[in-house]
Amino acid sequence: MIDFQGIINNIHNNLIKEEVKGVVASYIPELYKQSTNSFGIYLQCINGETYAAGDAYTPFSIQSISKVLALSKAIAFEDNRIWERVDVEPSGNPFNHLSLLELENGIPRNPLINSGALVIADMLVTHLKNPKQDFLNYVRTIANDQTINYNTDVAASEKRTGYGNFAAANLLKSFNNLNNNVEDVLDFYFHQCAIDMSCAQLAKAFYLFANGGKCVNNVQHIPVSQAKRINAIMLTCGFYDEAGEFAFRVGLPGKSGVGGGIVALLPNNFIISTWAPGLNAKGNSLLGMQALEQFTTETKISIF
Ligand code: DON
Repeated sequence: MIDFQGIINNIHNNLIKEEVKGVVASYIPELYKQSTNSFGIYLQCINGETYAAGDAYTPFSIQSISKVLALSKAIAFEDNRIWERVDVEPSGNPFNHLSLLELENGIPRNPLINSGALVIADMLVTHLKNPKQDFLNYVRTIANDQTINYNTDVAASEKRTGYGNFAAANLLKSFNNLNNNVEDVLDFYFHQCAIDMSCAQLAKAFYLFANGGKCVNNVQHIPVSQAKRINAIMLTCGFYDEAGEFAFRVGLPGKSGVGGGIVALLPNNFIISTWAPGLNAKGNSLLGMQALEQFTTETKISIF
């Protein structure tokens, strides 16, 4: 028997004392209000056991973690047609870089960089009757939690300063890889990223990826084969130009967000989420990555 509670308590208590905690994202001004002293860890096992340490129940801005949830919803509508408009290769570049997009004729490298997520957002704007409300309902359903909501201040903040995403959406449009209006897609995307969730809520929402497409309520939302693919994309692309480093150090598929959250999982085993707003130079949570590395090292459990 592994003492999961003891392990995550130790990781939390040791890392919270670190002096270097990374830098809070400021390019979305509203996110800059966060403190580097926030730190939560939550472990959700497939067998139903849960373990929490620190600020595991405090909601924060999930940002790019939402891209995985949006992808799973788009897959339910588009199935394999998705891959005609977005590729599945790691980009080796930061999340917001656009040079490859132009070189590769408007086909984003993968659905987890910003340009790829904008294509997925475009699909959802096409398919959902009330895109923002319907997507929120989907997230609430898979997490089994009706209290999850948008943080409209964060969405408005990104809308005011998100010039890179406006450029990406316009470039996609110029390559005919955006079917809806640039403004509508960006409004949806900024909201999708501005969902507030806690580590506990995120771990529940990601349960379906660790459980062959079935959510915490045992409802099949995506086929087993698509859950496999989403996990593969998280492993190869979930941390942008740090995906290799995350696989090397942690050894799990996962996804980060500039709000300081990370969710990682071992299929058929567990989902683990962390929140620590201080980021490293690649835009991924500094303490979160350290915590996950220590978790897989101490438990000796990873996909490898
Ligand atoms: O589009 C953006 O720049 C943000 N809404 C999300 C970026 C993000 O979370 C990158 N992840 N580490």
